[in-house]
Amino acid sequence: MSIPIPRPGQKYKEVTLKDGRKAILRAPEWRDLDGLLEFIGELVDERVEIVRNTKPSRGEEAEWLGRRLVAIENGSLVALVAEINGKIVASSEVEKRIRFPEMAHVGGLGIGILKNSRGAGLGAAIMESLLQLAKEIGLKVVILDMFATNTVARRLYEKVGFVEVGKIPKAIH
Ligand SMILES: CC(C)(COP(=O)(O)OP(=O)(O)OC[C@H]1O[C@@H](n2cnc3c(N)ncnc32)[C@H](O)[C@@H]1OP(=O)(O)O)[C@@H](O)C(=O)NCCC(=O)NCCS
Repeated sequence: MSIPIPRPGQKYKEVTLKDGRKAILRAPEWRDLDGLLEFIGELVDERVEIVRNTKPSRGEEAEWLGRRLVAIENGSLVALVAEINGKIVASSEVEKRIRFPEMAHVGGLGIGILKNSRGAGLGAAIMESLLQLAKEIGLKVVILDMFATNTVARRLYEKVGFVEVGKIPKAIH
């Protein structure tokens, strides 16, 4: 059975976390600009093991979000944010590598969750949803990059079926 891809702002599902809080998983939309700016700012301040370590300006974030909304409309990206009591606590996506038609079946995945919403099953729920949606946009292979030292992320990825294919020394400064 095919699952409808959530358009910008549309709800995908509600999940109950292990601590009883309810999170709404939905596609991002334009009015999320400030919420997403605050979200990435908190991850950067915490120095989590993601590639970005500087805060984007509002303009940069607007460009980033605008490109994502266009890609959702084009069917080359599935994105989910998680909202708890109106605050964005997670952002995630899988994007098709559309530069070459021969690689349009391959997608790159990214996910981040704010500190106070980790360890309660949200990551697993988002990954499960994203991977289902990735199939719906025609992806056969999903890849991701991670810091080799990020053991929590590794456990989550392995739990949903990812396997390591290699390490790239000094890939990130
Ligand atoms: C990595 C991340 C997405 C995981 O999401 P999460 O909501 O915390 O994960 P979950 O609660 O769904 O847990 C999934 C699995 O991860 C592992 N895990 C979660 N928290 C853990 C912890 N504190 N220590 C060790 N393992 C942990 C467990 O194996 C867990 O499965 P289990 O509950 O069945 O044992 C989240 O911690 C995060 O956003 N971290 C900061 C940003 C980041 O590192 N992003 C990934 C970059 S590649």
